[in-house]
Amino acid sequence: MKQLFWIVLLGAVAVMVRGGSDGEISFEYHRYEEMRKALVSVWLQCPTISRIYTIGESFEGRELLVLEMSDNPGTHEPGEPEFKYIANMHGNEAVGRELLIYLAQYLCNQYQQGNDTIIDLIHSTRIHLMPSMNPDGFEKAASQPGEIKDWFVGRSNAQGVDLNRNFPDLDRIIYINEREGGANNHLLQNMKKAVDENSKLAPETKAVIHWIMDIPFVLSANLHGGDVVANYPYDETRTGSAHEYSASPDDVMFKSLARSYSMFNPVMSDPNRPTCRKNDDDSSFKEGITNGGAWYSVPGGMQDFNYLSSNCFEITLELSCDKFPSEDTLKTYWDQNRNSLVNYIEQVHRGVKGFVRDLQGNPVSNATISVEGINHDITTAKDGDYWRLLAPGNYKVAASAPGYLTVIKKVAVPHSPATRVDFELESMMERKEEEREELMDWWKMMSQTLNF
Ligand SMILES: *[C@@H]1O[C@H](CO)[C@@H](O)[C@H](O)[C@H]1NC(C)=O
Ligand SMILES: *[C@@H]1O[C@H](CO)[C@@H](O)[C@H](O)[C@H]1NC(C)=O
Ligand SMILES: [Zn+2]
Repeated sequence: MKQLFWIVLLGAVAVMVRGGSDGEISFEYHRYEEMRKALVSVWLQCPTISRIYTIGESFEGRELLVLEMSDNPGTHEPGEPEFKYIANMHGNEAVGRELLIYLAQYLCNQYQQGNDTIIDLIHSTRIHLMPSMNPDGFEKAASQPGEIKDWFVGRSNAQGVDLNRNFPDLDRIIYINEREGGANNHLLQNMKKAVDENSKLAPETKAVIHWIMDIPFVLSANLHGGDVVANYPYDETRTGSAHEYSASPDDVMFKSLARSYSMFNPVMSDPNRPTCRKNDDDSSFKEGITNGGAWYSVPGGMQDFNYLSSNCFEITLELSCDKFPSEDTLKTYWDQNRNSLVNYIEQVHRGVKGFVRDLQGNPVSNATISVEGINHDITTAKDGDYWRLLAPGNYKVAASAPGYLTVIKKVAVPHSPATRVDFELESMMERKEEEREELMDWWKMMSQTLNF
């Protein structure tokens, strides 16, 4: 709370000094303090639809700041899906960091100007923007003199940990479970303590793991640089080979999600785009998208971790050949990515969604939603609400929970919006009670008829 108070005060002073917030996007790099001020100034301009919070601190003590945009900042509304963008986990990959700062300002401006698309989006979605997961690395990269930045300086956190190789390697577990049976989701269930005690995890990684596991995120993207492509799970190959298509159970939907980003980015989707560097192997890229493993295997990445530890589907966006391009190109990157960034958030409203309740109307949380033919279940949140992303088609969707009778429904899913399907689960106790009463009635009837 104390920290937030200082953020507020700093922001208020910043705005007073500047003579009020004009809401204009400034297409420049934001060092840590500038980023903080930029977020605070969005919040002061749009206080009813935004909130700033922090999920923890970097190794050197910088805040891992998040700007939330929603019609009810600070609360999960039952039935409303949650979305996140997270950038700059490689501290020297700077474009995504700036794009999220600009996106925050853009959403606030458009909301105020009455743009229906943006108003609808903010009213129906809880959006979380984290411009920098690795603020220490960024400061290191940005303090290099001159325009040309080194390819590696600032990539890792201040302890030298590559954050996108630092997550628990759940792919190895899922590949064993696929062969031998076992859980197909939430693989870190009931293991938060083990996460906290694991000394190999960087503070940034731990904070993000808690964030992923605490909020019922449905969809996410992780913004990087160094190439131009939308990359989808799995990132780690099944056999451990360096390059191999590694489909997840939701391969069809993931391709569609990745395409929903690449399609609106004229550079990413250009089939004739030259490779970023002469000897790059982009042979796995099609329509601006690639399977992670087919490109190159990444163990311990954040993308697969989201999918395997929570309900959240995440893809990885590579936004620029240059990791830290010169400041005068930032506006161009914004123009290339703006529609993609907005369109990708809208994908959170696809598939099937609804509530699982018992016969008295009480929410059933942690119920399992499974789809026939897709070996990846998701679970209901606290209010019994769920969101199951699905590509268009006909599905059989089941809701089940320990102590309840499973209910299966047939559902036709269009491209969008999500089809609403609610489930009412009868508890086995209730069923037994019903059966007992029926038996008693029958017995009474029989005894009357037979007169004994
Ligand atoms: C409203 O926002 C959408 C999504 O970003 C954008 O495509 C559209 O151009 C905006 N409309 C106006 C009038 O600016
Ligand atoms: C959710 O359900 C699973 C299995 O049904 C169980 O292992 C887990 O402990 C439950 N989680 C919570 C938070 O209740
Ligand atoms: Zn990266």
